[in-house]
Amino acid sequence: MSADDWKRQAAEAAMQHVEPGMKLGLGTGSTAAKFVEMLGTKVKEGLDVVCVPTSEATRAQAAALGIPLSTLDETPFLDLTVDGADEIDAELRLIKGGGGALLREKIVAVASQRVIIIADHTKRVETLGKFPLPVEVVPFGLNATKDMIESLSADCGSEGPITLRQGAGGKPFVTDNGNYIVDCAFESIEDADALEDALRLIPGVVENGLFIGIADLAIIAGPMGIEVLSNEDPDFNVETLV
Ligand code: A5P
Repeated sequence: MSADDWKRQAAEAAMQHVEPGMKLGLGTGSTAAKFVEMLGTKVKEGLDVVCVPTSEATRAQAAALGIPLSTLDETPFLDLTVDGADEIDAELRLIKGGGGALLREKIVAVASQRVIIIADHTKRVETLGKFPLPVEVVPFGLNATKDMIESLSADCGSEGPITLRQGAGGKPFVTDNGNYIVDCAFESIEDADALEDALRLIPGVVENGLFIGIADLAIIAGPMGIEVLSNEDPDFNVETLV
């Protein structure tokens, strides 16, 4: 089986949590796109849902599939968001933003009663940080902001190259919100909670890709089957293969 098959398996498992009448947040990235594709089929078959996308790319995909769309302004409270992740640790802490949509992803996730993360097994890590941490920053004062990220991250034990993400034509990548992204190649984030707190103190940082205490469930598909991580039930065995 390929990574694509595992992503599809995880998306299928998440679909079982969707109920008629739900207000859904739709994630961004190749795994979330599989979920959106399946949701499109269900909508054609008569499923009644209304969805808020986390990026313009997901909005375009969902619209093309005929999925009823809304905005957080019209629909500020969502029942469930299904999204992908770049890294997931055992405590269900995530790195997100590889696709550049971290700000809207976090806003939509926090507006949701429940957040389910879907991924293939390559996203499951012991320690966050191998995947460079995306941080969305305002273009004004970019270098000062980068310096401050470097300094406050080092105070939390995270050091490594911080680079401005490049887009098409050698120009900086611009998010759906008109901002830039810097990718922080820390290799290993020893204290994710402290790092997230520190990044929040920097005025030029709009949002960071650490999602801590946000995901309720992760469905991770791989060669060994489906691993489920849950924060919902204190008695739940943290790692279960189903
Ligand atoms: C988008 O900004 C990201 O947070 C994605 O959710 C993440 O990069 C996962 O993408 P894939 O499913 O394509 O790996």
